[in-house]
Amino acid sequence: MARWDDPDTVAFFASRPPDHRLLAWVEAGSLPCGARVLDLGCAGGRNTAYLTGLDVEVIAVDAEPAMVAATRARVAPFVGPEEAARRVRVGRFDALDDLRDDAFELVLALGVLQNATDDAEFARGVREIARVLRPGGTVLVAHFSPASRPPDRALSRVAGSAHAYRGFFGEDPELPMVLHEAGDLDAAFAAVGLAPLVPSDTVVAPASGAGSHRDTRGRTAGGTRVTVNAHYRKPHAS
Ligand SMILES: C[S@@+](CC[C@H](N)C(=O)[O-])C[C@H]1O[C@@H](n2cnc3c(N)ncnc32)[C@H](O)[C@@H]1O
Repeated sequence: MARWDDPDTVAFFASRPPDHRLLAWVEAGSLPCGARVLDLGCAGGRNTAYLTGLDVEVIAVDAEPAMVAATRARVAPFVGPEEAARRVRVGRFDALDDLRDDAFELVLALGVLQNATDDAEFARGVREIARVLRPGGTVLVAHFSPASRPPDRALSRVAGSAHAYRGFFGEDPELPMVLHEAGDLDAAFAAVGLAPLVPSDTVVAPASGAGSHRDTRGRTAGGTRVTVNAHYRKPHAS
């Protein structure tokens, strides 16, 4: 995958409009005023900034300090620099120790869990999401599928792993990423008690943008990315 501290990558993720499924969820009135949202892998802050402009408290977490800095800069005009630093944090999705149980109405996990390098890290991340979601809360997930086809090599599954693959798009194809087909992603969330709110959808698209494989002149070199879009709900306590 791309180096997350690359200034072009930070700028690319900062320039994108808010996620269309998040927009639809908000526009449908599904996020109450004062709701708490967790943006995991917030990147350049497109969703965090959008939600901060609404009457919503967003906590954003990203492992890359350059992404955190870009997101804080977008949040600070709304809430001031100190509150921006409290809300936007350097951290990893599989170790959300400073966040309490049942805290969030909505978690965004868009393009982040796939950055796990082994099955155990991915499973810890899914468990953390289930822990911090309040009963009745939901998580929007976008996650790459192993049906993706880089242009010049095949994905190869890491020996002994169920879902970790080498050879994905980007600068370091040797770094494993954890990829799931829709049914396997549903099963991973079902294992922590979360069920699909709508059927998980698989989207096939030509590869483009930051993180794509590029040739020596910086052009994207083709291939296909397959993404699973999912939305899971944590059940109310019975
Ligand atoms: C594809 S971008 C996410 C895009 C973003 N969610 C959006 O909708 O614009 C992946 C982000 O995940 C971050 N990341 C990678 N590994 C992570 C980890 N273990 N924990 C938290 N963030 C991570 C990267 O720094 C990067 O900003």
